[in-house]
Amino acid sequence: MTALALPMLDADAPRTDEEARARLEHIADLSAEVRELARQRDAVILAHHYQVPDVQDVADYVGDSLGLARRAATTEASVIAFCGVHFMAETASILNPERTVLLPDLEAGCSLADSITGEQLRRWKSEHPGAIVVSYVNTTAEVKAESDYCCTSGNARSVIEAIPEDRQILFLPDMFLGLWLERVTGRRLTIWSGECHVHAGIRPDDIDRWTAEDAGADLLVHPECGCASQAMAFANERTHILSTEGMLAHARQAPGGRFLVATETGVLHGLRKAAPTSTFEALREDAVCRYMKMITLEKLRDSLRDLRYEVRVPAELAARARLPIERMVAIG
Ligand code: 13P
Ligand code: SF4
Repeated sequence: MTALALPMLDADAPRTDEEARARLEHIADLSAEVRELARQRDAVILAHHYQVPDVQDVADYVGDSLGLARRAATTEASVIAFCGVHFMAETASILNPERTVLLPDLEAGCSLADSITGEQLRRWKSEHPGAIVVSYVNTTAEVKAESDYCCTSGNARSVIEAIPEDRQILFLPDMFLGLWLERVTGRRLTIWSGECHVHAGIRPDDIDRWTAEDAGADLLVHPECGCASQAMAFANERTHILSTEGMLAHARQAPGGRFLVATETGVLHGLRKAAPTSTFEALREDAVCRYMKMITLEKLRDSLRDLRYEVRVPAELAARARLPIERMVAIG
């Protein structure tokens, strides 16, 4: 199934067999160096599903935001080398302040986390006294510190359902996830109008192309997508709105299937490993998070070698942000 794929040019792609072989050798050498440095540093390498394949393959654990937070909370390694984005490393540091948390590139941010500041949240709360604040984990430590609960796509529904029905809920920052939550829980939420530029770019038009050109494949849609509500409107046995980890679990249960995947394309690597007899294609090949892709094997090697760049949340802020994160880790 390639009809829907939007062409992408990879400037770094090897052009000859010899170049491809040299590249594989380089990756193998670097991976061995990374593993040896991790051993010397007593480091655990945690990687998000959106990381480049080489980084996923060298990690001790690959997971979604919830799985990574849970791993970070319980690891006994001295160092956590976090291959993800800044808010994830902050979360790891808040949950496990005795460990050294490293982020190989401090520029690895998140457009969704940037869509609300602590000051904006304080103002929003003052307009809705008594409301419960539920923040998606894609937020800064300062925003988490102003929240009652955090959640991820993996447990957002359970978190909303754990809150008494008579309480107003301020949900932030992702509006598409918020709208999806309203539909699946039947609750009215007051929703911040933030979005992830990658998922918001997967639009209802893309679903239309799927129905017109390749309705034979099953569609896996992350609820952060700009098309999530439209996908729900189709709600048939071939359309599945799933968190990242939910997509992997679904793929494992349906070997030999054909899937179109509406989320960041890094997840295709894990899906293909989890279900090698199935085929997976991106609904949009340009759904690539430039922040996630900033982490490379070279930067991970340098990070472990030089113990850089440490992410540590100031103790007072961490103390306030810990409770909503611990609630998230415990629910769902
Ligand atoms: P999950 O890992 O919770 O699926 O979140 C997706 C995402 O956009 C992470 O930045
Ligand atoms: Fe943030 Fe979106 Fe990138 Fe996830 S994919 S890190 S939400 S910008």
